[in-house]
Amino acid sequence: SRHTVAIIVGSLRAASINRKVARSLCAFSADKLACTIVEIGDLAPYSQDYDEASPEPYVRFRQAVAAADGVLFCTPEYNRGVPGVLKNAIDVGSRPYGQSVWDRKPAAIVSASPGAIGGFGANHQLRQACVFLNMPMMQQPEAYLGHVTDDSFDASGCLKDGPLKDTVMRLTAAYADWVDMIVRSRRLIAE
Ligand code: FNR
Repeated sequence: SRHTVAIIVGSLRAASINRKVARSLCAFSADKLACTIVEIGDLAPYSQDYDEASPEPYVRFRQAVAAADGVLFCTPEYNRGVPGVLKNAIDVGSRPYGQSVWDRKPAAIVSASPGAIGGFGANHQLRQACVFLNMPMMQQPEAYLGHVTDDSFDASGCLKDGPLKDTVMRLTAAYADWVDMIVRSRRLIAE
């Protein structure tokens, strides 16, 4: 059966290019992965005080990530770093201490921007947090998608034919293999 993937989009904007990239990834991987976008817009700013009695959206978010075989991030870059809403979601999922839902989830990071650098700064900052959280991170291919604009997508929000679509399709295939490799090696170790 297909592996399940929680996709987390680092933008709350309705017309987000990163959300459109995420939807395209879902479509391209449909034969191998069952992808679901897990929303982060309703997560209150994290406080350790919530560790005792967590707000309902925290519980829903943690359960959705915990249930997935892998995690895929599609994020913009804000001021050369990770958007606050996404870092907040990372922090929410990492707590209470010892109950992190990120632990050992095979992951990849895609960053998209209209700019030339493709969100490189946000991508690497996020990677650092994920490495700390013990997530096996896909190393290649890297995914700094530059020059992505509304014009990169068709009316249904899917990537138009062209080099960007080819890149995202290659990425998708590599990530599906990555999740499969990590899930199967974990099963072997458990036996
Ligand atoms: C940006 N943008 C941006 N782009 C970039 O490449 N590097 C950056 O550091 C920033 N900084 C930044 C800060 C803030 C507060 C905003 C609102 C925007 C531009 C950004 O890439 C662009 O708005 C994207 O379209 C945002 O991604 P979504 O929402 O379309 O997924």
